[in-house]
Amino acid sequence: MNGPSQFPASEKQRLISEERCRRQPVDVILERMHLRKGDVVLDLGAGVGYLSLPMADAGATVIALDLQQEMLDALRERDGGSERIELVRAELPSIPLPDASADRAVLLNVFHEVEDKQKLADEIGRVLRKNGRLTIIDWQAKRTEHGPPMHERVPMERASSFFPFMTVESSYNDEEHYHLELRRR
Ligand SMILES: C[S@@+](CC[C@H](N)C(=O)[O-])C[C@H]1O[C@@H](n2cnc3c(N)ncnc32)[C@H](O)[C@@H]1O
Repeated sequence: MNGPSQFPASEKQRLISEERCRRQPVDVILERMHLRKGDVVLDLGAGVGYLSLPMADAGATVIALDLQQEMLDALRERDGGSERIELVRAELPSIPLPDASADRAVLLNVFHEVEDKQKLADEIGRVLRKNGRLTIIDWQAKRTEHGPPMHERVPMERASSFFPFMTVESSYNDEEHYHLELRRR
C-alpha cells in the first residue's frame, strides 16, 4: 500500500497564499505556543517557512527541516537570504540532530504526511529536552473544503496517543484544524 501523499513543492505558493493566512493565522498559532525568546525550535516539515520565519522574528533559534530541497531554498529566499534559520534536509521520521538538543518541535500540517508516526514520536522524544514542548497542528478528521484525503487524516486523540511520555497542556479545535500543545515529562 502506498504511504501518505506529500505536499508537492510545485504548489508551494499555496502554503503562503492569502487564503491560507486567513484560514490558519500565524498570530493565533504563536499566541497558543507561548514561545520564549532563545528557544531552540525544530520546525519539522517546515515547507517554505510559513511558521519558521515568524518564530525567528519572535526571537527563537529555528532549525527548519524538510525533505524537499526546493522548499528549503524557497524558505531561505523568503528570509532574504539570511542564514539565521538553519536548514536541514532530511526525511522524517529520522531527525539528524543530537539527543536533548531542542526546546521545542513543531509539526504544522505535517504529521499526517509521515508514514512511520511511532518512529517520529520516538525521535521527537529523543531530541527534545526535559520539559521540552511539541506543537502539533493538523487537519480535523472530517470533511473540509481543503486538505488531504480523509483516510490520511489523524484525529487529535490519535495524534496525542503517539506521545505517552508527554502531557497535553492545551488543545484547541478550530473549524478545519486542531492544535495540540504537549510537554515532555
Ligand atoms: C503541507 S506542507 C506544510 C509545510 C509547513 N509546515 C507549513 O505549514 O506551511 C508539508 C511539508 O512536510 C514536508 N514533508 C512531508 N513528509 C516529509 C518527510 N517524511 N520528511 C521531511 N519532510 C516531509 C513536505 O516536503 C512539505 O514541505
